[in-house]
Amino acid sequence: MAEQTDKLIHAFSALADLGAEIAESRDFEEMVRSTLHVVLGALGLRRGLVAEYEREPALLRFVAAWGMGDDAPNMATFDAGRAELLCVGSGLLNLSETQTRPALPQQLGTELTATLVSLRVSLVAPLVVHGELVGLIALGGKATDEAFTAEDRDVIRTMAHHIGVGIHNHRLLREVERRADENRQLYNNLRGIYRDTVRAFAAAIDCKDKYTQGHSERVGKYAEIIARELGWSEEQIEGVAVGGYLHDVGKLVVERDIINAPYRIDAKQSSELNRHPAAGYEILAPIRHPDADIPLMAKYHHERIDGRGYPEGLMGDEIPPAAKVVALADSFDAMTTDRTYRRRKEFPDVIEDLRSNTGRQFASDVVIAFCRALLKEVDGTPRERRITRLLGKGYIEPELVRPLLVELIEELEARAHATAGNG
Ligand SMILES: [Fe+2]
Repeated sequence: MAEQTDKLIHAFSALADLGAEIAESRDFEEMVRSTLHVVLGALGLRRGLVAEYEREPALLRFVAAWGMGDDAPNMATFDAGRAELLCVGSGLLNLSETQTRPALPQQLGTELTATLVSLRVSLVAPLVVHGELVGLIALGGKATDEAFTAEDRDVIRTMAHHIGVGIHNHRLLREVERRADENRQLYNNLRGIYRDTVRAFAAAIDCKDKYTQGHSERVGKYAEIIARELGWSEEQIEGVAVGGYLHDVGKLVVERDIINAPYRIDAKQSSELNRHPAAGYEILAPIRHPDADIPLMAKYHHERIDGRGYPEGLMGDEIPPAAKVVALADSFDAMTTDRTYRRRKEFPDVIEDLRSNTGRQFASDVVIAFCRALLKEVDGTPRERRITRLLGKGYIEPELVRPLLVELIEELEARAHATAGNG
């Protein structure tokens, strides 16, 4: 009696170990292998295997085997009808009774029964979870050649349940991962569609304004470069790029003649034109964008730090940071491209404009970031020359531009420093 109790205690402490294995193990096959060892060790068995049932194609895949010899197969076919039969019984099957119980080969199938008998398996425990077969454990005889006791069978049943739950959980996890992969792909597809739509919109906006071909696209690209230099997150960078592409979407509702006027427009026309930021906001606000600030970038891209912009005359930090970035990108492109009534500025004049308007029209940190990004390109640090390519060949002369940029950055930093000191 005392010996029997000892054996049970041993078996149940092994069960506790098994529980821990199933919970902690990340590698499924390793988990199955070590749980098989626990079962064999606890009951003093010579050999055993754990098979996972796969419905399509219907087969038992031997996930772990011990003491079965090197020639043992690693799977056996097993059809769905038999799987159902096994679930109904859900008890242990004693293979040494195959001669006396013809039902056994019917439950396991002649082929599997023959395979298991050739592997000298004497006991089979189906792994059934929520009424579905997930696999089976096949066990050889005891090292002592004693028969299985009723307690042994209880232990095997309980262990089979644990391993079954482990396999079931693993399957759920695989399913969750598969779905997550699918969702990721769907999400990426949607993002691709969103990006293409944004590009198409930008092209439509620029079509309306025949003198600013490619303006929206360039503003998107400049905005992205500035945001990256400011150290923003990838999501923020993508958001501000989209904001750049769409900043003038409100021009779609402004009369084409006003946008394309080859002369300075009058006050009435100008107030009509100045409706475009608010109109852009109205167009973009109902859309669910990946970045919620995108409509605000359209609305506030003509605001100025000194409060003299439009439509609301916001000042300083009242203007969303992304709108400040789009504002600079927009003005920079306007200065560096030819328009109907004027040619583009020479680069030293652009530098002068930035110097006098930083702190009035433009935010200082945004201008500094843009100058730094350009300086890096002039120095050849990034392999990809983005700003210089957008500006076109021959516009930037590195020897001339470099000292101007260095000087401007130093001056703006000193000014920012002094302001912070005063504050
Ligand atoms: Fe605009």
